[in-house]
This record gives sequence, C-alpha cells and structure tokens, in this order.
Amino acid sequence: HKDPLVLFMPSGKRGRFPVGTPVLDAARSLGVYVESVCGGRATCGRCQIEVQEGNFAKHKIVSSNDHISPVGPKEQRYASVRELPDGRRLSCSAHILGDLVIDVPQDTVINAQVVRKAATDRVIERNAAVQLCYVEVDEPDMHKPLGDLDRLKVMLEKDWGWKDLLIAPHLIPQIQGILRKGNWAVTAAIHRDMDSSRPFIVGLWPGLKNEAYGIACDIGSTTIAMHLVSLLSGRIVGSSGTSNPQIRFGEDLMSRVSYVMMNPDGREAMTKAVREAVNSLIGKVCAEGEVDRHDILDMVFVGNPIMHHLFLGIDPTELGQAPFALAVSGALQYWAHEIDIDVNRGARLYMLPCIAGHVGADAAGATLSEGPYRQDKMMLLVDVGTNAEIVLGNKDRVVAASSPTGPAFEGAEISSGQRAAPGAIERVRIDPETLEPRFRVIGVDKWSDEEGFAEAAASVGVTGICGSAIIEIVAEMYLSGIISQDGVVDGAMAAKSPRIIPNGRTFSYLLHEGEQRITVTQNDIRAIQLAKAALYAGIKLLMEKLEIDHVDTIRFAGAFGSFIDPKYAMVLGLIPDCDLDEVKAVGNAAGTGALMALLNRGHRREIEQTVNKIEKIETALESKFQEHFINAMAMPNKVDAFPKLSQ
Ligand code: FES
Repeated sequence: HKDPLVLFMPSGKRGRFPVGTPVLDAARSLGVYVESVCGGRATCGRCQIEVQEGNFAKHKIVSSNDHISPVGPKEQRYASVRELPDGRRLSCSAHILGDLVIDVPQDTVINAQVVRKAATDRVIERNAAVQLCYVEVDEPDMHKPLGDLDRLKVMLEKDWGWKDLLIAPHLIPQIQGILRKGNWAVTAAIHRDMDSSRPFIVGLWPGLKNEAYGIACDIGSTTIAMHLVSLLSGRIVGSSGTSNPQIRFGEDLMSRVSYVMMNPDGREAMTKAVREAVNSLIGKVCAEGEVDRHDILDMVFVGNPIMHHLFLGIDPTELGQAPFALAVSGALQYWAHEIDIDVNRGARLYMLPCIAGHVGADAAGATLSEGPYRQDKMMLLVDVGTNAEIVLGNKDRVVAASSPTGPAFEGAEISSGQRAAPGAIERVRIDPETLEPRFRVIGVDKWSDEEGFAEAAASVGVTGICGSAIIEIVAEMYLSGIISQDGVVDGAMAAKSPRIIPNGRTFSYLLHEGEQRITVTQNDIRAIQLAKAALYAGIKLLMEKLEIDHVDTIRFAGAFGSFIDPKYAMVLGLIPDCDLDEVKAVGNAAGTGALMALLNRGHRREIEQTVNKIEKIETALESKFQEHFINAMAMPNKVDAFPKLSQ
C-alpha cells in the first residue's frame, strides 16, 4: 500500500505524498514553483493549479478530480469574493486524496513586438527573485521585549522559512507605522538574489499586498525597449520603446565615445540622458499596465558594452581603443535608486554580464534567450548593429566575437539610406529581363506596380531606402546581372536599360524617380560589401575556431534581422550556407533574455556561468581576418560555396 503519486506539469517533477497533504506543500517539497503570498490562508489566490483528468498510462497514473479534496469553506470564501476560474483550485487548500496529475498554469510570456514584426512565443517558467510573504506578527508584549522588526523576522522564519533575514535600511523607520496600520498583519517583499546569499526584506506593506512588478529593459544605441511584467503571474502588462536620447551626442557608438573624450562633462550628460529616458519609459509602461511605479521591485537590464557603461555611469573611453577593456564584465547588482531609477525604494537592478569588450550584456541576453549552449545543433547567433555581435556554438563549446560592420546595414553611409519609417522603401524586386524594379514602401499597402500605388503613396512619399532593403536591392542587382561578382555596376547595361545611369566614373541604378530621386550608387554597393565582408569574416573566424565547415541553424537578433529576408542575406553572403528554413529572425532576443532573467533567477546563474565559459575571440588580432574579409567582398564569396542557395 503506497502513498498517492503526484505528477506536476509542465516541470514533470513527481513524488509520493501521504493522503491529506496540501498540494502546495507537495509542490514545495519537490521544488515545483507555485506562487503564494498569503502563506496558505486562501486569501491571495496566487497558488492556483488545475487537475488534469485522465489515464496517464505512461506515468502509471490515473488522475481524477475525485483524488483531490472537495472545495472547502475557505476556498469557497475566496471564490465568492475574488472569483476562481473554472477548474482552478487553490493548491494551499486542496489536499491530495489519490494519484494526481497537476497542471501549474504558466502564463505565456509573449515576446511583444519591439520592432514591427512579432517574434517568437515562449513560456518562461517563473521563479522570480522577489517573493511577497504575508505574515501575522505577534503584538508587542511588555514581558518579551523583542522589537517590531525582530518579531516580524520570527514570523517570516516560522511561516516562510526565511533565515538570517537582512532588511533594507530605509524600511527600518517605517516598521512601526506599517505594523500598526496593518493591525500586525503585513506583507514583506523578500529578495533572495542579493550579492550576499542572505535573503533581504526590500519592501513592507500593511495587510495583504498582492502585486509586485518587474522591468526588463534593453538599452540599445538607437532604441530603448522595455517590458513591465507581473512578478507573480508572469504576465507582460506593458511594453514600449523610445529612442535613445544619447543620439544627440552622436549617432553611433564610437561617436559617443569620442564625445566623452572631447567633453569633460560628456559622460555625465549621457548617463543622465539615458537614465531620464529609462525613467520616462517606466512611466509609459506603467500607464499602459495601470501600475504604480512604486510597485516595481526588481529590474533586469541589458545593453551593448558602451550603453552598459554609460548607463551605469562608467567612463566608456577604454572601449574605444584596443585592448577594449571593460571596466567590469561580470553581472552587477544595484539598488535601483543608486542608478537614479525612480521605482520602489527597495527595488533591485540586475545587469547581465558582458561577454567581451565588444560583445555586451545584450549579446549575453540573446544567448540566454536562444540558448546555443543548450542544444546539439550548431547555432550561429548574430546581432547586427554598428558592430555585429556574433555567438557560435552548441552544448559542447561556444565562441563569440564582434565584427566592425559599420553603420551601412542601418542605412547610414548609403546615399539614399534612411531609418525604417513611413516613406522608406522596404522591399525590392528587379526584373532580370527589363531591369525594371518594383518595390514596397513602409506605410503603403501596395507594391509600386500595383494600381493605386501613386495615390496611396502620396501622403507618405517615397523618401529613401531603409537598411534592410539595401541588402535586398544589392542582392537583386546581383541576381539580375546589374552588378558583377565583385560588386561593380556594369556600365554596358546602360545600353539595355535607362535605369543604369552614369555617375562620374561609375554607374548607379535608378530605383525611383519622383519628388526625390532614389538611386543605388557604386559607393553604396561598396559600403554594403565592406559591411557584409566584415560580418562574414568574423563568422568564418569563429567557425575555424570550432573547426566546423557549416552551421545547422542561424538566428538573427535585433531589429535589422527582423526585416531582412534570409534568402537575400545568403545571396550576398552575409551569413554562411545553411538550410533557409533554419535561418530565423528572433526579434529583440536581448530583451527576451532580460525577461527570462527577470522572471527566473535561475537564468541569472545560467547566463553568468555560460558567459564565463564562452571563448572570446578578438577579430582585430586574428591574422586570418583580412584574408576572410577579402574573400567575402565577392558575392556571395570568392572561395566558400553556398550549395543550399541553389536548391
Ligand atoms: Fe494564498 Fe493559496 S497560498 S491562496
């Protein structure tokens, strides 16, 4: 005669428990994460579970609602006041009577669209660093002169098992008031992921406090993207982005470093600007989620090394020159207010580790999100910006490098280049016979050769080419024979098409003649060649390091990757040969990684350990870089084959 067997999904953890054990206790003892704020008093409603009915032959379990205790008076009371969705039970009040399969609902966290296209859906198992704990503290007693805080700690240990608690000093003067206001019942926020291994009381409220929020933020050089998440349900309640105000100090990263070098107050001014932007973005996501910013208790940030330094108030000058020394590469923790972030006074801020001088906490976030180190497949992860951050590997070994692609992929240095905004050409096809183009413009719902395009485009105009479209145009020019393998516009074509026009000693391709003349010049093509050669050479170095000649799967992180068509990236040889189905854009993967680290503190240790193991390669020091670079100037490459392209 054995005790009932209980299986928890989705974790798959299982164990036997005596009849009468509360389901919550069973979950706890197996390390299955089920939220609870009230400590089993059936008042917070956070501990919801569902029984899966059926015969789970594989697990030798027949699970049924008869194997759980019926709804009792406490649960009944909760359901009548707060309402419990159909089929849900409070695991603190439901007792095990027989074999059970229990579903712990995980709110799906959707990687909300920071760029135009939504990226992947995924479920992040919750195990937040902050936990809310309701306790009823003994009233003061003249015969036992233990202080208010000390009696609070006693109860937090008795009811919740917290030992050796520390407390944020700002709370100490408030304790008396809060305890009395709550009539000795209070909710404490415990942060259990501080630098010291001891748990920390970071917040205290009278009565039952049933909500706590967190922020995941990616500070990009151009855009700052943020999610506001409920730490208790895992639900994203607000997502927003704003442009990085540091742009006024310099478009790209290096110009911002120069600004710091040239101006005595430059670093301070940029730090202030980015922190202000973060604060106002918090206001925005809080308004969206109808959340009080003082309910934000935990934050996770990622950013490239220079953004990382400037946000934290560190001089980035060293990152502008060899040996590209980071002031600090490991993960960091602060009180949010130390970084001037205006949220709860007890909120913590966690910054992911940087991988190398040019491969930042954003790349670490993307690595955590896509997890090359979790799989057998050889994964190439690329985040293209002014610098391309490249991570390559699988569960055996991971290497990383950055490549100086320059801003061409972002549309800078391109004669008709512009940011992705209404009016920008975003898709192009060139007829190989007539060399006539057709294209799509952001904000216009038609191809340029469709009826009514001119009227539809009248309001936004056709103003330029966005960075991702330039890849497509150059690839289409190559496919239609307008440019040679070496990237030279064939002047002889001018006889065949009026689209090929002389431009000094070279030729350009006329894409659109309207209010603005949009052409692709020989210089534009050069700029793209240089950028793509740098990217490919970096990738090639990493492949050589791992002694591999192909990759199984490719992930494009970042805004750029969301817009480019993998086929065109491969036609131009930006990326090595790979099954086209295995080339995917993953959107703001750095932000997703931040979200994972926010919702599950286990992911913080995971990425810290992974980053320690990643082998960093400095492309500038590798003698083969130049050779790979020159070969990669050709389309798609002088020496490397792309067999998958012809399939
Ligand atoms: Fe609060 Fe169950 S733990 S309702």
